[in-house]
Amino acid sequence: MKPDVRHAIDFVTEATDLIETAALAAFEARGEFRLALSGGNTPKPVFEALAQRPLDWSRVIITFGDERCVPPDDERSNYLMACRTLLDAVPIPPENVLRMKGEIDPATAAAEYEAALHERSPEGAFRHDLILLGMGPDGHTASLFPGTPALEERSRLVVENYVPQQKMNRITFTYPLIDAARHVCFLVNSAGKDAILEEVFSGTSDYPCAAVNPTDGRLTWLLGA
Ligand code: 6PG
Repeated sequence: MKPDVRHAIDFVTEATDLIETAALAAFEARGEFRLALSGGNTPKPVFEALAQRPLDWSRVIITFGDERCVPPDDERSNYLMACRTLLDAVPIPPENVLRMKGEIDPATAAAEYEAALHERSPEGAFRHDLILLGMGPDGHTASLFPGTPALEERSRLVVENYVPQQKMNRITFTYPLIDAARHVCFLVNSAGKDAILEEVFSGTSDYPCAAVNPTDGRLTWLLGA
């Protein structure tokens, strides 16, 4: 499906509106909202703004598109960032937050995460209502970095991925899980990414983010600065 590329005037408000709208639609259609959070800096003010919205948090299921293999109290942890900006500020039941265990063996953590998704999805394959993604300066998204094995994964939903560029293990959603979502939204709000974006939208790039292609869902790029 052709991506919906939006140039935001007020990036944080528009991103927050998009998430809130998706939540209300999911509550109405299926009773719960499955939202995957991204890491990095871009989503921080969005998560803070989302914490102020009057959502029924008891019906929100939070997952993480990727995690750095560090303990949850490490400054590099995406879970810690989400707690500080959003999760500690809203009345979400702890069992609704599916944390990737960055502190244990990465392959075990990835397998456990995939099993947890299956458990939360008695109706069949786990399908997110909304997956938020970022785009790194090398075109990576989630922890799908250029040249890494996770890019080739076609059946598992969550895998461990050693990222030589970062000299660290990561746990990441794979394309099959991302592409199964009802809606995938890239949030890009930092200067200096225009050249990559141009290539991505040209349709000829092989950046990992350019390969995201929801099978039966929407794809939005919300662009700020
Ligand atoms: C991570 C991410 C990663 C991130 C991009 C964009 O854990 O590092 O999930 O994919 O979204 O690198 O990061 P910025 O928002 O900081 O530019």
